[in-house]
Amino acid sequence: MSEKKVPFNKEKIEKIAEKYPTPFHIYDEKAIRENARRLKKAFSWLGDDFKEYFAVKATPNPHILKIMKDEGFGTDCSSLPELILSEKTGITGENIMFTSNETPAKEYSKAKELGAIINLDDITHINYLEEQVGLPELLSFRYNPGPLREGNAIIGNPEEAKYGFTKEQLFEGYRMIKEKGVKRFGIHTMVASNELNADYFVETVNMLVDLVIEIHSKLGINFEFINMGGGIGIPYQPDQEPVDLEYVAGEVKKIFDKKIKGSELDPLKLYMENGRMITGPYGYLVARAIHKKEIYKNYIGLDASMANLMRPGMYQAYHHVTVLGKENKPHDHTYDIVGSLCENNDKFAIDRKLPKIDIGDIIVIHDAGAHGHAMGFNYNGKLRSAELLIRPDGSVKQIRRAETIEDYFATLDFSDL
Ligand SMILES: Cc1ncc(COP(=O)(O)O)c(C=O)c1O
Repeated sequence: MSEKKVPFNKEKIEKIAEKYPTPFHIYDEKAIRENARRLKKAFSWLGDDFKEYFAVKATPNPHILKIMKDEGFGTDCSSLPELILSEKTGITGENIMFTSNETPAKEYSKAKELGAIINLDDITHINYLEEQVGLPELLSFRYNPGPLREGNAIIGNPEEAKYGFTKEQLFEGYRMIKEKGVKRFGIHTMVASNELNADYFVETVNMLVDLVIEIHSKLGINFEFINMGGGIGIPYQPDQEPVDLEYVAGEVKKIFDKKIKGSELDPLKLYMENGRMITGPYGYLVARAIHKKEIYKNYIGLDASMANLMRPGMYQAYHHVTVLGKENKPHDHTYDIVGSLCENNDKFAIDRKLPKIDIGDIIVIHDAGAHGHAMGFNYNGKLRSAELLIRPDGSVKQIRRAETIEDYFATLDFSDL
């Protein structure tokens, strides 16, 4: 069971809301840092040969990236703006892993200029990269195991997924780049998203280790790293358990001890690029109940909408809801908690048992710290909300202001109407 607690009380949120009106996303820096340290500690047997590249797409905010940098993490970037965000935070060179797909030349060009590790998504990108920007000294490929692995709901079945090289293409690809003069090699995969089964990650490492051994023996190339991707899930539901990182690290150590230690591939670095498990549980969407509607069902209307957090609408994902200050009241009412979009899937919770909600109550939506604000959008003219950070000393810092109507209109030209 994961206990769904909040790192603030109603009084504190009401005080914050006087300065920063709801809705907003708020992140808990202390908890993010503790979690980051736990991950690093679990893999400390690898020393500097372990590195987490935080998936910028999860929470693309420089203040969050600064925390990652402080904790010794790099960044996993998937686009030009993410590369620039990383650069602006002072994360450059091989502290960046650039994993993108259908990538325009100018994005590869920026990645190369920054000295990032480029991870190609397709065999045809080898020539594209060479022609457009030139090949770097170090190159990595994304592997899609297709029928050899099962995926899960969010990322889909690997065979149906658009990402990566087939196994045959990997051999051909590494042979090609070796011939073209590439000197350093890595390999990457990401076959599941929001996966809670710890063994899944152990199997992924085992698969990559076997693969680099096979490629090494057939092509004579040495691998510097394997990147097992992101995708470690979080317990969105209170009855779910988080992934046991110490167990994963322990099993991975057994694989390394058995298959890598003392071999020509030793030392082999292990990289990860999690987003969700790093910040997800430590971010909250804070909104206010502004309407109550009773028709065929009982609805609570919030001042937030799917434009602030689209996971429930997009994936029917469960996000825990707390009615702040009423945590210990009987959960004897059943509500649909909804946003204001003209979309009937704009529902944060359906048939949820909660305490009686009154207009004005603060509604906290949990586990919004990754793929939350980041996935926000402007449909229905909704403005993106602010992001706030609770500092370890309890103070609150605004790390992104809320959008204004002027921001929303900034790309429109009304002058020649
Ligand atoms: C290539 C890649 N790496 C890492 C991630 C981060 O995934 P998660 O936040 O689930 O760990 C994603 C998510 O979409 C991804 O596509």
